[in-house]
Amino acid sequence: MKFGVFLPNGSNGYLMTTAIKPYLPTWELNKQITLEAEKQGLDFVLSMMKYRGFGGATGHWDACLESFTLTSALASITERIGLVPTVTILAQHPAYTARMMATMDDISGGRAALNIVTGWNQHEYAQMGLWLGDEYYEERYGYALDYVNILRSLWRDGSVTHKSKYFDLSDCQCLPQPANEIPIVSAGQSKAGTDFVAAVGGHSFVMASPEKVHRIAAELRAASEQSGKPVGTYALFHLVTAENDNDARRACDDIVAGGDIEAIKYMIGSATLDTVKDGTTEQVRKSAEADAGLLGGDISSGNMAFMGFPVIYGSYASVARQIDEMAADSNLDGLLFSWPDWVPGIRAFGERVIPLLECRRDWDANARGGLRGTG
Ligand SMILES: Cc1cc2nc3c(=O)[nH]c(=O)nc-3n(C[C@H](O)[C@H](O)[C@H](O)COP(=O)(O)O)c2cc1C
Repeated sequence: MKFGVFLPNGSNGYLMTTAIKPYLPTWELNKQITLEAEKQGLDFVLSMMKYRGFGGATGHWDACLESFTLTSALASITERIGLVPTVTILAQHPAYTARMMATMDDISGGRAALNIVTGWNQHEYAQMGLWLGDEYYEERYGYALDYVNILRSLWRDGSVTHKSKYFDLSDCQCLPQPANEIPIVSAGQSKAGTDFVAAVGGHSFVMASPEKVHRIAAELRAASEQSGKPVGTYALFHLVTAENDNDARRACDDIVAGGDIEAIKYMIGSATLDTVKDGTTEQVRKSAEADAGLLGGDISSGNMAFMGFPVIYGSYASVARQIDEMAADSNLDGLLFSWPDWVPGIRAFGERVIPLLECRRDWDANARGGLRGTG
């Protein structure tokens, strides 16, 4: 099992709550987190990209450090950990992205992978005049496939001629070519999103309850056997640990009690515009429609104060047991975590949880991290 950190490069990380003092996504914070993650033997850090936050009492995600600039700086101060920047494909031309990744491959010595984000919140792109119209909701993974084909042609051949509905490139040059394979990551939960990962052979990041994670991982493995392209599946969780289960549960309850209703309403409003009804935006809307209202979702399967991410919580031993249960699924390649308190949380994970894990018993913490290997 590989372990990654979902870097808080947007304000307040992945909690929409007043229970935690609002904070800015500074370089210093993301640097300290990455250095601690590398020290604890974690395998990769992934930064996101958002162009418009959700506001509210906490100003959720109103500020966001740019993902490539941040990752590139992190590459130069680390030695082993894998690095995953995010490209928002509506905002960056593929020839530009191909060159940025070749640069990142060189700076990092082959530790970089690329997270492909199609975009689900039209406000982010419409404000820049980049939204392609509401048909894009349904077409977004077709656009992504076209985009990845261009990236891979450029990385493989150093130039491409490509004419399609979305792009027109004529002997487009892009050198240097990366010296290493660049793994592709994507995090859609819709059928179109998982089909995209199976088609390109990449790593799928799933945000769902443990039961649903196992189902999606098995479906993806089956699809990969059919397509002949290797895939990897990773699941996303918040991790809340404490000396005992009660203290961890209390910390979760405080986060829910302080839920930033205005920010949550804004997020759900944007999610409601998405015409794709079997993916993440639908899941977000459903967790907010739970019996007890906006903050009624079960924390193990998705509460909006935790942005709909499921939470693994408990004492160090209990969290280790839950992670080993997840790892028993041979279709699952790793877990991506968010912590409420970041550096101390990652240190406690490394010092108190990892030593208890069966699934990391023979892990070589000095081996090079990253996502290469599957997908
Ligand atoms: C680990 C992870 C990282 C993501 N990163 C971003 C991001 O940086 N920017 C963004 O707009 N969406 C991001 N998303 C959202 C997804 O890329 C995707 O757009 C969303 O899940 C909707 O796709 P779907 O309809 O196929 O589920 C992320 C989701 C996950 C689980």
